[in-house]
Amino acid sequence: MSILQTDGLTKRFAGLTAVDKVDLTVEEGETRAVIGPNGAGKSTFINLVTGMLEPTEGSIEFAGEDITGLEPHQIVQRGVSKSFQTASIFPGMTVRENVEVAAFATAHGSFSVNFLKHRNGYGDVSDKAAEMLDAVNILGSADMQAADLPYGDKRRLEIAIALTAEPDLMFMDEPTAGMSPEETDETVDLIEDVQEELGLTIVLVEHDMEIIFRVADRIAVLNRGEIIADGTPEEVQGDPDVQEAYLGGVEL
Ligand SMILES: Nc1ncnc2c1ncn2[C@@H]1O[C@H](COP(=O)(O)OP(=O)(O)O)[C@@H](O)[C@H]1O
Ligand SMILES: [Mg+2]
Repeated sequence: MSILQTDGLTKRFAGLTAVDKVDLTVEEGETRAVIGPNGAGKSTFINLVTGMLEPTEGSIEFAGEDITGLEPHQIVQRGVSKSFQTASIFPGMTVRENVEVAAFATAHGSFSVNFLKHRNGYGDVSDKAAEMLDAVNILGSADMQAADLPYGDKRRLEIAIALTAEPDLMFMDEPTAGMSPEETDETVDLIEDVQEELGLTIVLVEHDMEIIFRVADRIAVLNRGEIIADGTPEEVQGDPDVQEAYLGGVEL
């Protein structure tokens, strides 16, 4: 069953059509990749679905409901989350506090740094935070300052924060950007773990082809805002339009 479906989704900025009549379906439980050259419209597509940008045309259906035009927090409440938002970590708090604040916002409807002073009254929040830190394998670093985490563990913390919203669908925009090969490997393992353990549906935007072919069930290829190919990794890999779009760039 499809969990997400966009129909003719379009975003124009002044003279530029960044996302052009995109029809994309995401099946429940799959890892769906969206790839394409720089400037293809991948991040804009995510921003449309998560409500950060308003579509110029087209519609977005999530879990059978039309969510076009909803506010970002309304979309999060319905179960769509995005990880790897660079600003999501508070460096001065501990790892545990970062996730507790996010869990508090999910459970009690508002964000409150103040809650940390009274947190003993919120056992549900501490339990949830510990569970999420465990899911991403950084429970052992719970009492470290977030700023002191190694880069790869910061990405894990961002995922834990995104998971506190209990999403059904999680977007990841270039999760391994800036990572060493070792951190990249760990992150890919983590994506696979989270996907399997929590039964999440993941939409992964990435330009590292090795990662895509390792984790994706289906791949949509965007070029200049349009989907030029959509199918299994094998189908997409052999597509002449895709090879042309990537000529001189990334090799498939
Ligand atoms: N807020 C914006 N205003 C104007 N143009 C934008 C804006 N956001 C993105 N663009 C343009 O839209 C196109 C697609 O960008 P983006 O979605 O970031 O591509 P990708 O993530 O695939 O690299 C690019 O040409 C980019 O310059
Ligand atoms: Mg981008």
